[in-house]
Amino acid sequence: MKAIYPGSFDPVTFGHLDIISRAAKQVDHLVVAVLHNPDKKGLFTLEEKVELLKEVTKNIENVEIDSFSGLLSDYATQKNCSTMIRGLRATTDLEYEMQMALTNRKLNKEIDTLFMVSSSEYSYLSSSTVRQIAMFGGKVSCFVPKVVEDALKDKFEEAYDNGRRA
Ligand code: PNS
Repeated sequence: MKAIYPGSFDPVTFGHLDIISRAAKQVDHLVVAVLHNPDKKGLFTLEEKVELLKEVTKNIENVEIDSFSGLLSDYATQKNCSTMIRGLRATTDLEYEMQMALTNRKLNKEIDTLFMVSSSEYSYLSSSTVRQIAMFGGKVSCFVPKVVEDALKDKFEEAYDNGRRA
């Protein structure tokens, strides 16, 4: 069985890695796909997010990192894969996730979304919180792998050097 784990991964956190490593045990092949969420202001470029994901998943054999500019339902058709994986951190995620799952199934009737419950230690964690902590120089090492921590530091130093905040 093949599945797609789509997300904006801006940046990838230990919460995402928890879902990736557990999902990879349940399927033969897992495609982690970086897509654009128009409702979120991005920090990292698509290419940067892909590079970080490749680095932090390099030891998981059946994981492929990919990206797509467009609708998830079209991507699913292109990849010939109808199973989507999404993580649920808390019941507050449910409304948004159900809306997305049902919309995707309306757009492509083959698509089914499987939800995985996040491990409790990551149930509060989000990329937006991590971005905010890093922006103000806080410690993010307990939320993201070292390579992501370094990338966040570079990103915000770069913004300061350019005389603005990212
Ligand atoms: O990690 P996120 O931000 O919750 O992921 C959301 C994402 C990127 C999977 C979603 O915004 C998406 O599928 N974007 C691609 C455009 C699309 O298909 N939109 C309609 C989904 S209902």
